[in-house]
Amino acid sequence: MASIKCVGILTSGGDAPGMNAAIRAVTRAAIYNGLKVKGIYRGYKGLITGEIQEFKTQNVSNIIQLGGTILKTARCAEFKTPEGRQIAHETMVREGIDALIVIGGDGSLTGARLLAEEYDVPCIGLPGTIDNDLYGTDTTIGYDTALNTILDAVDKIRDTATSHERLFFVEVMGRDAGFLALNGAIAAGAEAAIIPEFNTEVDQLEEFIKNGFRKSKSSSIVLVAESEITGGAMHYAERVKNEYPQYDVRVTILGHLQRGGRPTAHDRIIASRMGVASIQALMECQRNVMIGIENDKIVYVPFAKAIKNDKPIDRELVNVLNELSI
Ligand code: ADP
Ligand code: F6P
Repeated sequence: MASIKCVGILTSGGDAPGMNAAIRAVTRAAIYNGLKVKGIYRGYKGLITGEIQEFKTQNVSNIIQLGGTILKTARCAEFKTPEGRQIAHETMVREGIDALIVIGGDGSLTGARLLAEEYDVPCIGLPGTIDNDLYGTDTTIGYDTALNTILDAVDKIRDTATSHERLFFVEVMGRDAGFLALNGAIAAGAEAAIIPEFNTEVDQLEEFIKNGFRKSKSSSIVLVAESEITGGAMHYAERVKNEYPQYDVRVTILGHLQRGGRPTAHDRIIASRMGVASIQALMECQRNVMIGIENDKIVYVPFAKAIKNDKPIDRELVNVLNELSI
């Protein structure tokens, strides 16, 4: 720890509500512990181009309630190359940044892991993604807000679906992970969820038609996780139109509205806890770990574990959805 005097912080990949709360927490916890903080703009791109600014406590005032990220975010192909990471490291040396806090998803933490390995730089990751697809943490920053956004939308869709007695396929985000779709379906009282994790096991549409749709309901809503594996909501709507033409089908793709909005209390709290924990981790000489929360306790998850393992879907959730959608 003695050698760490200045911490760099960046947000990378898809933005997520609560990233600002995390930036605030990292900045304030670092300053509280006597460290200098530098905000790096536009993810790894800013580390390559040197778009960096020292942050004082007032730089993060009044942001806890805001969606998006004040540091901006980006996807940076150059950082995927060894040459790109070399330039990034040179920038860190020039700026006197001794350690890096990366807030992002699976891809961003993969980048942090490589930088840490290649240049022996202490890196700490915070799981910032609405997808909740990082292993070793019960939840990620932004997931709860996105779930609530999905609920608001599905509640509204239910009104019109019921009036017209229609079957709606609602596509939600998740990039090959079914957490938003499955928990969104439970919370919204939807009839089914189609998720990539179960795509090879059963024909999820057949299951739904067999178990759910034939029951005398005035409307049905199926949440579909966007994914090349599932084929998305349009794919299922087409199938129903062809295979069950008696049903009046509509599709809603929720898209990027799921990524915006004021973070919920839950996301603000976990972002704050994780931000404080990231500085604590550095002070304990931890490096190359993601901060997670398991059973409401902070845990350190080695990057290799967080990134490489697929986070499993809890079967109990599937049973809950099935039992309650009769
Ligand atoms: P997320 O972090 O939300 O999963 P991406 O997968 O788009 O988002 O990754 C964000 C950024 O992280 C990429 O644009 C790139 O700069 C960096 N990154 C992703 N994968 C790698 C990799 N394999 N090696 C190095 N950097 C990576
Ligand atoms: O990883 C977050 C996420 O919102 C995914 O759910 C989605 O597949 C992807 O990002 C969309 O990315 P983009 O910002 O490039 O549209």
